[in-house]
Amino acid sequence: MHFCPTVLLQAGLFVGFLQTSVASPALPELQQRGTPYERETSSIAAEVDKLLSRMTFLEKLAQTRNIGGILNPGVTYDEEFVEAFNNGLGGGSISPGNYQNPGPAAAAVINEVITRHQRRDRNNIPMIVVADSVNGVTLLNTTLFPATLSMAQSWNIELYSKVVDSMSKENRALGIHWVLSPELDLALEPRYGRVGEMYGEDKYLVGRFGVAYVKNMQAEDSQGYVRVATTVKHWIFGNSLAGVNQARLLGGVNDFYNLYIFPYLEVFRETNPLSLMPSYSSFDNIPMTSNLEYTRDILRNELKFDRVIVSDYAAIPQLQNRQHTAKSLQDCGIKAIAATIDHELSPPERSGMSTLATLEKNPAIAKEVHEAARRMLTLKFITKTMEQPLADLKNVNKTLRGEEAMKRNMDITRESMVLLKNDKILPLSKSFLSKVAVIGPLADIINPGSYAASDYSTGTTILEGVQKISPNVVFSRGCFRNNYTNFEQMRDEAVANARSASVAIVALGSVAAIVDGNVNDRTDGEAFDHADLDFPGPQVELLKAIVETGTPVVMVISGGQVFTLEYAAANAKAILHTFLQGELGGDALGEILTGKTNPSGKLSVSIPRRSDILPIYYNHMNTDRKEVGWQVTTDYQAPIVDRLPRYTFGYGLSYTTFSISGVSVTGTVSKTGSIKVEATVKNTGAVRGKEVVQVYFNQSAPEMERPIKNLVRFTKTGDLAPGESTQVNFNITVDDLGYWINGKKQVDADTYGIMVGSSSDDADLKFFNVIVQG
Ligand SMILES: *[C@@H]1O[C@H](CO)[C@@H](O)[C@H](O)[C@H]1NC(C)=O
Ligand SMILES: *[C@@H]1O[C@H](CO)[C@@H](O)[C@H](O)[C@H]1NC(C)=O
Ligand SMILES: *[C@@H]1O[C@H](CO)[C@@H](O)[C@H](O)[C@H]1NC(C)=O
Ligand SMILES: *[C@@H]1O[C@H](CO)[C@@H](O)[C@H](O)[C@H]1NC(C)=O
Ligand SMILES: *[C@@H]1O[C@H](CO)[C@@H](O)[C@H](O)[C@H]1NC(C)=O
Repeated sequence: MHFCPTVLLQAGLFVGFLQTSVASPALPELQQRGTPYERETSSIAAEVDKLLSRMTFLEKLAQTRNIGGILNPGVTYDEEFVEAFNNGLGGGSISPGNYQNPGPAAAAVINEVITRHQRRDRNNIPMIVVADSVNGVTLLNTTLFPATLSMAQSWNIELYSKVVDSMSKENRALGIHWVLSPELDLALEPRYGRVGEMYGEDKYLVGRFGVAYVKNMQAEDSQGYVRVATTVKHWIFGNSLAGVNQARLLGGVNDFYNLYIFPYLEVFRETNPLSLMPSYSSFDNIPMTSNLEYTRDILRNELKFDRVIVSDYAAIPQLQNRQHTAKSLQDCGIKAIAATIDHELSPPERSGMSTLATLEKNPAIAKEVHEAARRMLTLKFITKTMEQPLADLKNVNKTLRGEEAMKRNMDITRESMVLLKNDKILPLSKSFLSKVAVIGPLADIINPGSYAASDYSTGTTILEGVQKISPNVVFSRGCFRNNYTNFEQMRDEAVANARSASVAIVALGSVAAIVDGNVNDRTDGEAFDHADLDFPGPQVELLKAIVETGTPVVMVISGGQVFTLEYAAANAKAILHTFLQGELGGDALGEILTGKTNPSGKLSVSIPRRSDILPIYYNHMNTDRKEVGWQVTTDYQAPIVDRLPRYTFGYGLSYTTFSISGVSVTGTVSKTGSIKVEATVKNTGAVRGKEVVQVYFNQSAPEMERPIKNLVRFTKTGDLAPGESTQVNFNITVDDLGYWINGKKQVDADTYGIMVGSSSDDADLKFFNVIVQG
């Protein structure tokens, strides 16, 4: 979770996070300074030390607090509450809250709150504004990009980097200097509701996107100040038991290093993320928010991470009331600060950090609080928040929704959909477009995900996208998204429309936000995990009824998850997964349907044949997946099912074909050397297109079980004309083939397999042996 207010609001459970009447304690006398903070030294470390030497214990402790989600809808807020927060000592950070507020108006209010607080503060320290940033800025009047999972289907790091650059500029313009992204969680459990916020199931792919996010969000200005600080999270998450939100992660030290923190290691090696958030979960039964070994020791001592560790929302009090590993709220605070958590997001009445106020005399607490304040103040200097805490309201409108951001949004939206099946129907010919039936409960909404700022009216829906390409469109919802109310009647109307059309575009899926106020429609996103991967409600029955009309069906999927697609895979003429689209989803869909855009997305999550065939991720261990007919009599598996994915990681169709040929791979190499991989990619079809070339490896005889294959490099070609070819080169250091045993990296002299091709499926890969000599 990031900020409860929105989540609860969306879930219809909003219980009044801001008290409307708060007893107003005496506030320190308002000092009318209002001057910006002036540095006395040029070194940030020296400046922070100087400042800390003037601060009391309670002032330092205030830096560990966040004034969360202050704005209610309509840019209103409880001034008395905010003024009295933390007995007038304020907090280290402040968050805008409700996503449905206009950006410029929200920024004006936040500016005012920060200024008033800073004037009152003896040390003239401003609060830093922190907010979510998944599809863009979490305020309206900003560019609404697709959700993370959708953008990851592009496999286009260069384009994604530009998108994040735009998000960063819009955040900074609105005074948001710190965001709670990227999510480096591994989408290994498809039943988990937050998959739409993640990049995908593969640790290397997640690492590459994570590096791009941190680099571009944190891009420095000419004076070396970071534009917007990032938060790598959730240390560690994505594979909770049975996909239950906040449930435990099973595993030990080898999974920790080889799997879960792999993307963090990439990000730490190449960038300098200014904060990190532990997950709600326990790993190996110890909550990550109080985990001395996996959070404090490994991050602080081994990886030398000296930036802010920020708790997830209410994760500190949950040590008591969910995990039952703390006796009291104060015990929660003591355990969190011992694990070197620096900053707390929590409801004000359940703050673990605030309970430390009575423990000034405890030297260990005093020391950790001092360190926490030091890290927070350092963050504020690095982002220039100390000198320039406010949004520049005069110029903000120039930055929001600019031409550059809108172009980048369109570019990535075109590449963020995956064509899963195409039985010679797409692109649609003129005759098909002459009369189109658009059917389905996902056709007429914007479905951008649960951490998107959307009023669900700005942008193009699937229906509107089709209306732009066909002169003759009939629409019928066909069923409700998640119940059988009026089903027969709605289905019959849809069937009649399908019969009268040349083609039926059937839009099914799962909603990850509240649209039209229909709270019970929401079946995806945080706190909406999946019991199975089937479409909610009567959606597949609707699909069957449409298929039975004989009108060819193009199925369009919307949702931040994978679905079981067996009926559709056998009966629809084409299937396109659009995941969670931003404001331009309908436009890009229209372009793909007509062939103006050639789809180039590839799956970053595998799609199983059945909900119960897990794990489904491609990089499983040899022992994890049973083959049909193998040892059936010895372990009594019934029914015998095909455990191969329906559509695997790295898979996605194009309107053209490509060949990957002339592959050469270094044959023998030393442990300190590097492996050169070269190949020629040729567009062998009739239309322009882009291909993603993927390189995987595996090892013959490691000391521990290792995955059957691992992605190790990938690249996306430019737009190739028919007949055009291009050369792709990869340089794989042998060190990248290594692994960790008990926290130590090792690289074996052994035979390795290097596989080069267009998906993770063996049939799409060419295999080479490489010998690494000792
Ligand atoms: C801001 O966004 C709201 C909601 O989408 C919209 O109604 C309004 O016109 C926008 N204002 C500007 C100036 O773009
Ligand atoms: C920016 O746009 C908002 C509407 O979203 C408007 O109210 C405000 O006056 C504009 N600011 C400037 C400086 O033009
Ligand atoms: C079914 O869903 C629709 C749309 O959300 C809603 O209006 C209707 O009340 C629901 N019916 C039931 C029985 O919950
Ligand atoms: C490596 O991958 C190839 C191709 O999929 C496979 O045949 C081989 O068994 C794998 N080796 C190991 C040790 O998993
Ligand atoms: C491959 O990468 C390694 C490590 O970054 C570097 O030392 C080496 O020079 C590179 N080789 C080529 C051919 O680029």
